[in-house]
Amino acid sequence: MLIQENVPLAPLTTLKVGGPARYFVQAYTIAEVSEAVSLARSRNLALLVLGGGSNLVISDAGWPGLVLKITIPGIEERSQGDKSLFEVGAGEEWDKFVAHAVSRNCSGIECLSGIPGSVGGTPVQNVGAYGQEVAETIESVLALDLKDGQVHELCKEACSFRYRTSIFNTSERGRYIILRVTYALTPGGEPAILYADLKKYFGGWNTQPSLATTREVVRQIRASKAMLITPGDEDCRSAGSFFKNPVLSDEQYKEVSNRAAAKGLQIPSYPALQAQRKISAAWLVEHSGFRKGYGNKRAGISRKHALAIVNRDNATAADIVALKEEIQRRVEEVWRLRLETEPVFVGF
Ligand code: EPU
Repeated sequence: MLIQENVPLAPLTTLKVGGPARYFVQAYTIAEVSEAVSLARSRNLALLVLGGGSNLVISDAGWPGLVLKITIPGIEERSQGDKSLFEVGAGEEWDKFVAHAVSRNCSGIECLSGIPGSVGGTPVQNVGAYGQEVAETIESVLALDLKDGQVHELCKEACSFRYRTSIFNTSERGRYIILRVTYALTPGGEPAILYADLKKYFGGWNTQPSLATTREVVRQIRASKAMLITPGDEDCRSAGSFFKNPVLSDEQYKEVSNRAAAKGLQIPSYPALQAQRKISAAWLVEHSGFRKGYGNKRAGISRKHALAIVNRDNATAADIVALKEEIQRRVEEVWRLRLETEPVFVGF
């Protein structure tokens, strides 16, 4: 394993901010992951595990310890009952896997097309979009447990998936390194046309769109919101949604919608878990005095989606954090709600 020193991390993220890694290694195999963990332990280096870098804000100081980039490859398919199981290396590019599943005519993740990042990152925050989330199709997760040094296969129930959370970013944060994810997809299954944007698109169609068409349309919708990485488009230099959509109790929801009604507004919301509602964070941002495109030369809100903070030109992590705090402050003043950030902050 090649150990590099002072490796810039910004190019390894979609937001492109942050300082260097003091030490940096890439692991192509499970054995190499274990080796890197031992190395960090023996030299007393703080370990940062890096996947696709699509949901990360790295501090300007960078990472003082060892950064381990997971590059484990491979997509293997086998049948189990009426499902096709795909065992996918954590280092595979997520969208490449979605394209592969669609080309095999297997449904279950077609609406998750065009999401940047690696397969290993998908269980962590239970990636979701357009009415699907990975919790619906993940069968199990193979992970190295840093507590006992063993590799464990965690079944989906053990992962405790909820909206944008799992054990990997809550109760057991930092404990596991994800090595491989097994997806159970449905051969010949129908695409999930559940989300308003997709229903609108396919509204006039009298035949069911194919998985491939659904994938293309999802990518088009994402591109129109600058949520598809398009080289040269500065609105894509982001970490995706910077804030989570707040999940409110019925009581909190009533209070917020009354506050909106007093301004003659109606807040977009979706049913969430039992007796809860999820409201649009993008809407809250836009109704707290920010317009799309707000900001300065370096950092701003995307011109195409109010929930993305973008690195316009040579932004620092400090620029991004200052804008995040300004947004949180104003939203809290106007709506008495604290927006929670969605990306992972490292080295702060
Ligand atoms: N809206 C605005 N202003 C905007 C954009 C949206 O007011 O600039 C309002 C509109 O009312 C719109 C509603 O927000 O109908 C929902 O917008 P959108 O469909 O774009 O979805 P979102 O709730 O903002 C979530 C996920 C995205 C995912 C989309 C599509 C979160 C935090 N974000 O965004 O995920 O792609 O739904 O399903 O849950 C990500 O997590 O990084 C991410 C991009």
